[in-house]
Amino acid sequence: MRVVSSINRVRQILKSARSNGTIAFVPTMGALHEGHLSLMKKAKAECDFLVVSLFVNPLQFGPTEDFKVYPRELASDRKKAHSAGADLLWIPSEKDLYPPGFQSTVTVSKISQPWEGIFRPDHFKGVSTIVAKLLQITRPDRLYLGQKDYQQSCVIRQMIRDLHFETQMRVCATCREKDGLAMSSRNARLSTKARENAAILYRALQAAKNQVRSGERDAKCIIQTVTSLLESIPGLKYDYVALCDIETLEPLERLADCAVLLAAIHIGRVRLIDNIRLKIPKK
Ligand code: PAF
Repeated sequence: MRVVSSINRVRQILKSARSNGTIAFVPTMGALHEGHLSLMKKAKAECDFLVVSLFVNPLQFGPTEDFKVYPRELASDRKKAHSAGADLLWIPSEKDLYPPGFQSTVTVSKISQPWEGIFRPDHFKGVSTIVAKLLQITRPDRLYLGQKDYQQSCVIRQMIRDLHFETQMRVCATCREKDGLAMSSRNARLSTKARENAAILYRALQAAKNQVRSGERDAKCIIQTVTSLLESIPGLKYDYVALCDIETLEPLERLADCAVLLAAIHIGRVRLIDNIRLKIPKK
């Protein structure tokens, strides 16, 4: 596995890789966990050459968010990316990606606005801008993202479509800990107690799924099941619990066929998001 920082070097290496086969790309902010590694393994199994980027993107963090304390574990990330089959690990510098005088950003207007967009204004502008730059430089055949960041994958899908990127996008299932907690680099910042309590998020989403299996279709009732379980944990706050259309993310009043149930919570000093797809069982 080659480890490089320079944009020109990445372009050179990928030019030659492209002439020999397909290129897969997994963008990350590091602190790699099993979720990232499973994306990398899938990407490597489906394409000839795997490029992984590692960049904690300042543009996607709000002024009061956790950019400074976001986990940075470069040495172990190198080993993990290598063991998951990466051919190229690209660690760009902030000054190369956002040089002085940098002015252009990408805004995906509608789908960036609800849910995360309300609580993290400008977050998706930061995400779409960096992903557009990374795609522009790497020009991969396939981009691999995790379902845990559901709205992010909707925003990026829309951007790829709107800006005519030639990359295909794959969204892979969320990897979970034994108790169901979605794997996230931010889990490392949970205290022992908060870590224990954080499992409620998945349990609450599962409770909603069971309720749908038992026949409930009303969005308010489904959401209420989730919020009342979340409220049973002292100190836990939630930003939103929403039952939405799987593509537009518009809120639904009733579950008609399939939907996505999205939630964001604060536990200790850590903000976590998760989601599950809900589908009406066939008779
Ligand atoms: O999901 C992430 O880790 C980030 O939002 C991404 C896609 C790497 C962009 O910085």
